[in-house]
Amino acid sequence: MSIEEIKRDLTIPENWDRSGLPSWTYHNKYLLKIEEEELFHKHWQLICHQSDISNIGDFITFDICKERILIVRDKEKKINAFYNLCRHRGSRVIQDKKGSCNAIVCPFHGWVYNLDGSLRGVSKPSSFPSLDKKKFGLKKVECEIWKGFVFIRLGKGPQPTVKTLLAPFSKELSYYKIEEMVPASKIWSQYSDVNWKSVRDVDNEGYHVAMAHPSLQDLYGKNYFDEPFVNGICKTHASFSGKGGRNWSVKNYKKFSTPAPHIPKFLHKSWNYFGLFPNAVIAVTPESVQFYQEFPISTDKTLLRGGIYRHKKENRKQKVARYLSNRIDNHTVEEDIQLTIWSNESMQSKAFDGFYLSDLEYGVRSHHDHLRQVIPILNSKEEPKGNSIFELNKKMINSN
Ligand code: FES
Ligand SMILES: [Fe+2]
Repeated sequence: MSIEEIKRDLTIPENWDRSGLPSWTYHNKYLLKIEEEELFHKHWQLICHQSDISNIGDFITFDICKERILIVRDKEKKINAFYNLCRHRGSRVIQDKKGSCNAIVCPFHGWVYNLDGSLRGVSKPSSFPSLDKKKFGLKKVECEIWKGFVFIRLGKGPQPTVKTLLAPFSKELSYYKIEEMVPASKIWSQYSDVNWKSVRDVDNEGYHVAMAHPSLQDLYGKNYFDEPFVNGICKTHASFSGKGGRNWSVKNYKKFSTPAPHIPKFLHKSWNYFGLFPNAVIAVTPESVQFYQEFPISTDKTLLRGGIYRHKKENRKQKVARYLSNRIDNHTVEEDIQLTIWSNESMQSKAFDGFYLSDLEYGVRSHHDHLRQVIPILNSKEEPKGNSIFELNKKMINSN
């Protein structure tokens, strides 16, 4: 379907509420607790790519909203996810963010686990009554691999399997052979002093591109279009404008961009973005695939994180193009960080009356609608007093 056809099919309601979520929702510590549980624990989270842990014993650890996750490849080459939590007294069983091991040895008292999470043995076993090892393996976390990306979920939520959820993107993403790609660099992360929703609000609309992202504007021009979130997913289309580009990186990127032979022509001159509710995006270019996401650390601190992957066989031109696209992306990230800071700050001001969103920012609204569906207290214009929010939110869920 062409962008024109998609645009024609989209029905944005008339007189929609353009004000966005109430400002209190960006600073309320009790709400954050609900978000951690209902959004970040109960929805699929993309942790890494299978090529980040390609050998037996390779692992990645990552914390999601106060829960500690360990992803490790076992002796059968299968990828498993566990809580990074020793069954003896709860220590992290692995402290490094990434690495490789033959067995998982807890640094506290030395209990040893196999790569499949089963307990191999405890230190000084005679100091315990007879211990049923089967009952003391690492606790498993639900894990699904889709197109080479490793997703985990800490509790059953409203989403179906990743495969079902992302099925509408499957055909297009299959052209990139993502499962065969390899890391272009380490998984990156950085902190930003804003609420996580301010990050997502900025990323969910392209209305700001023309003004705030000179490089992207130079790359796409008008050929940029956001579809709203529907059933937990959204897509942003962007194809290169015909002009050569005034910006040095863009001009040269357009010159060097060389798609891998398996990528069909209609995707040769485009960067597309595939959104996954509540907090992740998979972005594809002719030379690379990347994911990026955000996780709340507190109401006003967010972890930004992502990974970039390249084709296994990469020629010189593709490598140069990837370097240039990274330059463009890095500028864009810095520009977005500043926009999120201003947006987030404003919500503490007496002068802030809420957003007044353009039709081109309907993606923000559709993301908020998804949030309201999972956490109905977000509909309240008034900030609930103290921890009454938990009861009020529950009541609203039950009355739906
Ligand atoms: S907490 Fe792991 S061995 Fe004691
Ligand atoms: Fe942006």
